[in-house]
Amino acid sequence: MPTDISLILKPGCIEGLNQQIVNEMHASLQYLAIASYFDGEGLPELAGHFNRQSNEEREHALKFVKYLHDAGTRPIFKSIPDVRNDFSSATDAVQCAFEGEVKVTNQINDLVGLSHKENDYMTHTFLQWFVTEQLEEVSTVSTLLQVIKHAGPSLLLVEDYVRRMPTETEGADA
Ligand SMILES: [Fe+2]
Ligand SMILES: [Fe+2]
Repeated sequence: MPTDISLILKPGCIEGLNQQIVNEMHASLQYLAIASYFDGEGLPELAGHFNRQSNEEREHALKFVKYLHDAGTRPIFKSIPDVRNDFSSATDAVQCAFEGEVKVTNQINDLVGLSHKENDYMTHTFLQWFVTEQLEEVSTVSTLLQVIKHAGPSLLLVEDYVRRMPTETEGADA
């Protein structure tokens, strides 16, 4: 009778979950680069927003780490691919953030599909939190992108908008 609880996760899912740790850490580093760009531009509210996003992505990575540990599997950490450091404008930087969130949404969807295909319903259930989170993330960043486009060169209006944005703890799902 096997007693190794790591047998509860399917090998394909383990590989995908490990990969998602890297994907979330990549998103975290990309947000840090975007925050640094805004810091350099003298836009502290936007810098603060993206610093918070960076921390959030690291927390997402840690959720995957914890899940793998809970399921009896030691995570395997791989190196994080390069991020973009140069941005031509605020729109360009937020566009990069938007594209990153769409990419992560597709990664999560692929992982959900994989868990379903492998009949790994534990992983499937675990991933539902991320499915909901991605809707929130894509929605927030796409609205910010629209606001930046409306503001044109008046980035102080965007600073005001970001300052009034509810933080994660004030949000509906807090
Ligand atoms: Fe994330
Ligand atoms: Fe995100």
